[in-house]
Amino acid sequence: MKVLVTGGAGYIGSVVTEHLLESGHEAVVFDNLYQGHESAVHPDASFVRGDLRDVPSIERAFEEHPGTDAVIHLASHTLVGESMRRPELYLRDNVANGVNLLEVAVRHGVRRFILSSTANLFSRPERMPIDEGQPIVPGSPYGESKAILERILAWYERIYGLRWGALRYFNAAGATERFGECHDPETHIIPLVLSVALGRRESFTLYGDDYPTPDGTCIRDYVHVSDLAAAHLLTLEALDGGSRTYNLGNGRGFSNLEVIETARRVTGHPIPYEVAPRRPGDPAVLVASSERIRSELGWRPRYPELEAIVRSAWDWYVQHPRGCE
Ligand SMILES: NC(=O)c1ccc[n+]([C@@H]2O[C@H](COP(=O)([O-])OP(=O)(O)OC[C@H]3O[C@@H](n4cnc5c(N)ncnc54)[C@H](O)[C@@H]3O)[C@@H](O)[C@H]2O)c1
Repeated sequence: MKVLVTGGAGYIGSVVTEHLLESGHEAVVFDNLYQGHESAVHPDASFVRGDLRDVPSIERAFEEHPGTDAVIHLASHTLVGESMRRPELYLRDNVANGVNLLEVAVRHGVRRFILSSTANLFSRPERMPIDEGQPIVPGSPYGESKAILERILAWYERIYGLRWGALRYFNAAGATERFGECHDPETHIIPLVLSVALGRRESFTLYGDDYPTPDGTCIRDYVHVSDLAAAHLLTLEALDGGSRTYNLGNGRGFSNLEVIETARRVTGHPIPYEVAPRRPGDPAVLVASSERIRSELGWRPRYPELEAIVRSAWDWYVQHPRGCE
């Protein structure tokens, strides 16, 4: 297949592109480098520097790469906190950019589409782990923008016959040998903790140690970015059998303190931290049930252990001291 990967110069998109190419597919990366990095564009992928706000630049991508079969749409504003301060970036740009992309993709004959969605759809889970049957109650304008895009995809299926998959990632983490995580600002715990071990930060700030969990800190589900990428390929190949939504995580939660302890073991650094008050809107526990994708597509995480995930991230930072520059 020839696949257009929006956001392919970003963290998850670079690894999705790498997996596509390793599996014998062709990849066209579409990215405006707003958060992404040119060094994260796989050398064997074609690269179109374009912006999803700009419909002609999307047109150009499809014209330069005729016969594109599928789109994997990762490009997005991605920060929950920012979305609570600047909702328009999410409720307008994320939604409008997705529709711009859909409009052009369908016109160019694309029949398969995968959306990066999020655990932020589930701010009031009724049971843990969180399966696909749980109520969709977005926790922020960021989550709302993904929920709206999921619903828009259902209309594109009804009207244009587009087959789609929505993959709701829990916490993406880890690295491949080639690509790792460099967000600016960084908000994810594993790179933040490792940046202390690398000497780039004095200490780590732990938001809340009084949650109703065994050690008082939040529990999250970490899924290795390679395992996420593998799920994209499986989903893409299964779309002829019908559109689908999957929650993607390891199904096991680890507390913030467990992450710090694991990073101490992996790096040999004491990683000091200080405790700050809870952040509003941070639920105590978020763990995915990925039973559906396991049973329907046989997806199995190759990195179910936190230690292997943290180690892969650490190895990448040590090998790439300048990050994604
Ligand atoms: N990282 C996670 O743990 C996580 C969890 C759940 C969902 N997601 C979703 O996964 C996707 C990828 O996340 P990531 O962590 O790799 O983020 P990232 O910021 O590293 O990558 C996003 C990429 O999209 C590009 N982009 C943004 N706006 C664009 C536009 N208008 N036109 C063209 N390109 C644009 C950026 O330059 C960047 O390269 C996002 O949709 C995010 O919402 C991520």
